[in-house]
Amino acid sequence: MHRKGDRTAWLKGGRATCIAPGPFPKRPWYLVLLGPPGVGKGTQADKLVETYGACHLSTGEIFRAACRNPCEAADSPVMRAALDAMARGELVSDEIVIEIIRERIRCLHCMHGFLLDGFPRTVEQARVLDQLLEQVGTRLDAVILLDAPEEVIIQRLSGRRVCRQCKASWHVQYKPTRVDGICDNCGGELFLRDDDRPESVKVRLDAYRNTIGPVIDHYRDSGVLHVVDASGSPEQVFANIRAVLEAEGRPWEKTLDEAAARQAPPA
Ligand code: AP5
Repeated sequence: MHRKGDRTAWLKGGRATCIAPGPFPKRPWYLVLLGPPGVGKGTQADKLVETYGACHLSTGEIFRAACRNPCEAADSPVMRAALDAMARGELVSDEIVIEIIRERIRCLHCMHGFLLDGFPRTVEQARVLDQLLEQVGTRLDAVILLDAPEEVIIQRLSGRRVCRQCKASWHVQYKPTRVDGICDNCGGELFLRDDDRPESVKVRLDAYRNTIGPVIDHYRDSGVLHVVDASGSPEQVFANIRAVLEAEGRPWEKTLDEAAARQAPPA
């Protein structure tokens, strides 16, 4: 069972440090989750983190955290432009996203492993990720592409509701709360994300279709891509992902000592 710690350095920025949730795993997983908006990346990320202990690194969450906790950095013109693009459903520019990832390079060789969710989204981002991973001596074990028909995705997005307090994600049909509009976990109010409004959903799906092809080709060429059917229940989808990871194993083995040797000195 995954033990809780404070693994929020990813959200706070390059200088932040985490409180590790327990001993380092012997074999950390380094994974990327790809897929259209609303296909269930966040839902599967929670299950993967619980099972494999890797850190969940979501670029979308960094932007939403900046929205929730306006600080100096979040109030910069650059971050305001990023958040405006996000609310419209557009991709944030490569320049900004890459800068954010560079600042957090320590997370890319975390000895707990990682699960990148929402990054990379363009082939330029994928190339920079390759360079950064090479720099810190980490290689991806697998890139999981979640695939589902568009009508399934639209149903998932339009019914999603998020808790204002604890940020838990619910669904009016597939994962309803006991009391309509109120979070089961903390009693917080549920709301519809700005970018889940129908006009933004269309822009997000178009942005995905226009940019993901070369990213998929990039990882297919690298031999790490696995396409997983994500049209079933969350449990079925998770079973599909596990089957892929367990059948393929890893292209290379890592020991704790190797991982420790890669750990960079604190900044
Ligand atoms: P991000 O936060 O990454 O959003 P996204 O990719 O659009 O994905 P979502 O969080 O909307 O959906 P999800 O796939 O995680 O689905 P979920 O599990 O919640 O990015 C947001 C924005 O930030 C982007 O649009 C962009 O502007 C910007 N951004 C971020 N990274 C960027 C980058 N690298 N470059 C440029 N811009 C970037 O599930 C959805 C709903 O369905 C939930 O209600 C859930 O309960 C339900 N559900 C999930 N799975 C199932 C299932 N199997 N059966 C039934 N219901 C299900």
